[in-house]
Amino acid sequence: MADGAHPAPGGESAAHLTEAELAGQLIGDARQIRVLTGDRPTGALHLGHYLGSLRNRVRLADAGAELFVLVADYQVITDRDASASIADHAGGLVADYLAIGLDPARSTIFAHSAVPALNQLLLPLMSLISVPELERNPTTKAEAAASGRPALSALMLTYPVHQAADILFCRADLVPVGKDQLPHLEVTRTVARRFNTRYTPVFTEPKALISDAPSVLGSDGHKMSKSHGNTIALQAGADETAAIIKGFKTDTDRHITYDPEHRPEVSNLVLITALCRGEDPRAVAERIGSGGAAALKQAATEAVNEHLRPIRARRAELAGDRGYLSAILRRGAERATGEAEATLARVREAMGMAY
Ligand code: TRP
Repeated sequence: MADGAHPAPGGESAAHLTEAELAGQLIGDARQIRVLTGDRPTGALHLGHYLGSLRNRVRLADAGAELFVLVADYQVITDRDASASIADHAGGLVADYLAIGLDPARSTIFAHSAVPALNQLLLPLMSLISVPELERNPTTKAEAAASGRPALSALMLTYPVHQAADILFCRADLVPVGKDQLPHLEVTRTVARRFNTRYTPVFTEPKALISDAPSVLGSDGHKMSKSHGNTIALQAGADETAAIIKGFKTDTDRHITYDPEHRPEVSNLVLITALCRGEDPRAVAERIGSGGAAALKQAATEAVNEHLRPIRARRAELAGDRGYLSAILRRGAERATGEAEATLARVREAMGMAY
């Protein structure tokens, strides 16, 4: 949807909506919707990413939404230096995206460092938000603390505005993200609104799309996350997966139930099994019953390996073809550049800078 006057789905007021609400509104037709999502190329995508968000991207694309998928490479250097591995990770992300079923002919997969006009958009947007507002951002604060660096870099403080440029350059309506990203979406909506009020309306205010899938825990019972080292990588082998699941925390009650509040670790394995098999978690728990943690882990291992087998096979093929993965990123950058240049032209015109 390239027209700033067109309302985003879900009405004008709510800043985000859930998948259930979205499904109700779309009734299987997402053709008028533009979606932007992104990941930092810092390591292998894992089962938590897949069940929590990657699968939904494919569903949105299959429902006809226009998808922009961002390899957020400049965001990597908010809390670490760029290194040789960034190119590997970027290629790995593209391989993961294609392996799960994103069609590069219909989705624009690109790295933001390769789209100069997107980055230029950052300058006018930065003028619309204050340093104290950025200093209050709880996600930035948490990441700065976790980085272990003594002083906050200017990029760490301002990257939420860069993220706004990521979203606004293509006038995305919907941004599927985890709850930790809501403060950044608020920055995006704020600078969009301020620009439209200060100059002329150019931007749509995007909505966050919050996944219905409860977050998946890792082997140690904490949220599955690269930084916790508790993940099952999408590309992990079947035996490796079995070994990781064997090490998952459980509890001492032999009878398996689905009770996320009181039995988070056991319920997490039940949920992983259920999501991979397309079943209700309660049905999975009932079937295992008094089989205990060993039977549960066996079921989870089989479900994960079976579900990921075709994805892993495709990924292994793609990962060997670096030339192809680079070509996808180049083609995506070209398309994204066309969008970004058009948006930047409108922005400069609105600001009286079209000389
Ligand atoms: N900040 C996101 C993360 O850490 C990555 C990201 C960058 C992003 N730009 C984005 C996500 C735009 C959604 C939209 O995962």
